[in-house]
Amino acid sequence: MTQGDEMLGDLEVSRGYQQNAEYWERIVRQRLDKFQTEVTDVALMNLIGDCSGANMLDAGCGEGYFTRDLISRGAAHVHGVDTCEELITAAREHPEGGCLRSEYHHADVADLPLDDGSIDVVVANRLPHGIADPAKRFDEFRRVLRPSGRLLVLSMHPCFYAARGERDGVGFASTIDDYFGVRTVQQRFDVAGLTSPVESFQQFYSLEQHIGMITAAGFAITTLLEPRPSPEQRRSDEFWETNFTRPLFMLLECAIVTAN
Ligand SMILES: C[S@@+](CC[C@H](N)C(=O)[O-])C[C@H]1O[C@@H](n2cnc3c(N)ncnc32)[C@H](O)[C@@H]1O
Repeated sequence: MTQGDEMLGDLEVSRGYQQNAEYWERIVRQRLDKFQTEVTDVALMNLIGDCSGANMLDAGCGEGYFTRDLISRGAAHVHGVDTCEELITAAREHPEGGCLRSEYHHADVADLPLDDGSIDVVVANRLPHGIADPAKRFDEFRRVLRPSGRLLVLSMHPCFYAARGERDGVGFASTIDDYFGVRTVQQRFDVAGLTSPVESFQQFYSLEQHIGMITAAGFAITTLLEPRPSPEQRRSDEFWETNFTRPLFMLLECAIVTAN
């Protein structure tokens, strides 16, 4: 496949998650992904802060671990939304999936089954970029948030994230030289020595485009962080020296811009 090929689209994103659903569930539930458990989850929870009494949306919730974490931290109610039916089923069937303070929806974040102004905090935790209409989800996040609400977006770093190999034989990956176009990274997940059954497919937009989509929807960026292992983590675990050699993640906190 080549960049711009008509075969590449939101359908491929969904199909990839559907075929990798069992793999993904295992990685998350066995806490095998150190990037997630030791870096991004910590940064995201720190930025979210106190969730007590909040109505929240976990956008692209997967098998639901973050929804469950938010509930255990006192959120009043969490909606988990995901396009992958297998992962939504896994979230509902988890022993805590029946908690009355959570609700899982098989839906697209670009068309949320939620009322206007009903949510205090939207969290998009490693939600891949939309493809057909990438900006639409931000309009939806804006719509469902209360005026004082916050949006938190944890993504792969738009400037530095690249495929492990540039054309690694298992898929297509455009290089950082394609930065101002739409970069495509298509590869299998490889976590703790376990390789996913099929490739996942993601597109990357430049930082300018990425932030432009968010601000055009009516948000201001209030915090920009680049989650990474601390010096102490690097000293105590040599894993990070070989596996975290450049910025991999970007975490944004956004507030709604209100008219004067
Ligand atoms: C990398 S996984 C992250 C899942 C979970 N947030 C986590 O961190 O374990 C991305 C998730 O986003 C979902 N997803 C992708 N595009 C979506 C969309 N347009 N609407 C809702 N979910 C989507 C996928 O099905 C997948 O479960």
